[in-house]
Amino acid sequence: MTNDNEYNTLCLEDTGEAIARAAELIRRGRLVAFPTETVYGLGADAMNPEAVARIFAAKERPADNPLIVHVDTIEALRPICHVTAEARALMDAFWPGPLTLLLKKKDGVPAITTAGLDTVAVRMPAHPTALALLRESGLPIAAPSANRSGRPSPTRASHVWEDMQGRIPMILDGGPCSVGLESTVLDMTAAVPLVLRPGGITREMLLGFLPEVGVAGSVLRPLEKDEIAASPGMRHTHYAPRAPLTMVKGRNENVAVACCALYDTLAAAGKRPFILAFSQHISSYGARHVLSLGSRENPGEMGERLFHILRAADEMGAEVIFSEVLPPEGIGLAVMNRLGRAAAFRTIDADSFFIDVFDINTVLG
Ligand code: TXA
Ligand code: MG
Repeated sequence: MTNDNEYNTLCLEDTGEAIARAAELIRRGRLVAFPTETVYGLGADAMNPEAVARIFAAKERPADNPLIVHVDTIEALRPICHVTAEARALMDAFWPGPLTLLLKKKDGVPAITTAGLDTVAVRMPAHPTALALLRESGLPIAAPSANRSGRPSPTRASHVWEDMQGRIPMILDGGPCSVGLESTVLDMTAAVPLVLRPGGITREMLLGFLPEVGVAGSVLRPLEKDEIAASPGMRHTHYAPRAPLTMVKGRNENVAVACCALYDTLAAAGKRPFILAFSQHISSYGARHVLSLGSRENPGEMGERLFHILRAADEMGAEVIFSEVLPPEGIGLAVMNRLGRAAAFRTIDADSFFIDVFDINTVLG
């Protein structure tokens, strides 16, 4: 349906006038990429199956991966889903914000939007441009992240441009996204509410409003053979830079020694390695190619930068990437889930690492 050159894509600063044009496109069943506080979304009228089909085509997204429906008021959910008292309490506490709730869907939502499931994911984004677009279009907007399937989610308009140029009519540029990681997805239809995807609203925050909150087992490891993903999106490869990425864990001083040894060995083998390091450790790497993950004291900063850095490493010609890691606590759980999936969960333990017995093929993907 959509091919690479169908559109002369406009990238406009998110002024009132641009938002009005974008709202008109949404009403006509077309696609618009727009900023949210998490990542850029690729939006269409959630209730129009033809419009939603355009999202799947432009992203090359597998048809079994359902979309999030965005709203600007809780009342707008009336034709979309059944809102339980527990869900309502979470909406009052965390909306607008990076929390997506899975609820029982109503019949008016087209099957294509939810990939045939009887649940629907809903969220109210905390970005003035997203909220203005929702208000002006007067429609619920289905929007996945505006990357091509398998690529890191876009946290700047330029990332959307790289992936979607020619495939969609308009990108609204609202600058860099402040959270930088996709929203927390919480299944409110499970017996115990279950985090399917960790994000900016942490399990610890949710526990202030719910007696129990589970976390899907596959958040910090790959799916096992025959394991069914709680969320279809977890089945698919995600977030990956083009260069193979390996996480390096262990005590700080050992991580620096191991990363230097790995880097030098790969460089001697004619590869172009990159290290992703916290700002506190950058000086340990001398003149090697290093990209900063921000401060180790501020895990949210790594969240905000991560997808941009993965794309930057690709652009700078990285052929193999080693990354320092965070403890998987609070927002660190979301960061390590994304980094882990980008690395296909490949990890080296620096505390028991010996370069002389190391096979470089294991980090070359
Ligand atoms: O922050 C975000 O959530 C961004 C912005 C644009 O709002 N959107 C986003 O959408 O990340 P997407 O499509 O890239 O990720 C949605 C995730 C996928 O893993 C999908 O499988 C899951 O939510 N999901 C959506 N509806 C679902 C459902 N009914 N049941 C289970 N999982 C669902
Ligand atoms: Mg996505």
